[in-house]
Amino acid sequence: MSNLTFTMIKPDAVRNGNIGNILQMINNAGFRIVAMKYTRLSLDQAGKFYEVHKERPFYGELTEFMSSGSIVAAILEKENAVADFRTLIGATNPAQAEEGTIRKKYATSIGENAVHGSDSDENALIEGAFFFSGLERF
Ligand code: CMP
Repeated sequence: MSNLTFTMIKPDAVRNGNIGNILQMINNAGFRIVAMKYTRLSLDQAGKFYEVHKERPFYGELTEFMSSGSIVAAILEKENAVADFRTLIGATNPAQAEEGTIRKKYATSIGENAVHGSDSDENALIEGAFFFSGLERF
């Protein structure tokens, strides 16, 4: 069990003006921000970030969407961070997300689902390192 996870507030949530609402929910759930940036992925960078999904039928749609606008990327710290953050964001498909979760409130579809959350401690480290150097973590 690690105490770090990685998240992105996705282009749909940024476009809809929900950065502040989502950060407040993250704060209220007890996560500490270790690193954060407002940025935009190129199609190539989105392809690299989601390389594990390369063979999936939705890979093209996913990478197009993730490079369609700006995002907020962040490393978050909390005891049991990966599992607790996945509980906070809810199911990948917002139609199946629990009431009160970030995706239930702010996501519109399985593709445009407002936030990303790491699915394992190992991936949290890999994903955090994709965006942040050691000098950008506090
Ligand atoms: P995320 O947690 O960022 O990790 C992989 C993403 O792929 C996932 O959120 C969804 O946004 C996306 N995804 C998963 N399944 C589908 C699907 N069937 N169609 C489109 N996008 C999907």
